[in-house]
Amino acid sequence: MRGLAQAVAGLMLWRPAIAAETLPKMTVTRDPNCGCCGAWVTHVKAAGFPVEVIEIDDVAPLKTKLGVPDALTSCHTAEIGGYVVEGHVPADAIKRLLAERPKATGLAVAGMPVGAPGMEVRGQAPDPYEVVIFSAGRQTIFARYRGLDQI
Ligand code: CU
Ligand code: CU
Repeated sequence: MRGLAQAVAGLMLWRPAIAAETLPKMTVTRDPNCGCCGAWVTHVKAAGFPVEVIEIDDVAPLKTKLGVPDALTSCHTAEIGGYVVEGHVPADAIKRLLAERPKATGLAVAGMPVGAPGMEVRGQAPDPYEVVIFSAGRQTIFARYRGLDQI
């Protein structure tokens, strides 16, 4: 029993360290005057992503350059592991993207759904929202969430 308990304790210590090592660096471009972007950065950092933040006043040209469809734009734009992550995408969905590595430009949560990570509003129930996987001329649903929960 003692050996098992030690093995379990060892695993618990070991898992987060491995996760942090294997997650690639995320570069987030955001408007410094937008608070929800900062709250989302806190969310992905807490999930173990190493994050570099670039602050610029106009994030729109980067979205165009990276191929984010107009209909899917939000506030901040992240680049990670060769993918684009637009808006308030949950960290779990990004981890799944990096594990599955589908052929796509990236993921997006369009707009500002209440309750999405970084968009929590005190006293307001979270709205359901879609995480869309997109490429040039192609958009499909990757996952549906309400708050941090997949639905
Ligand atoms: Cu936002
Ligand atoms: Cu924002």
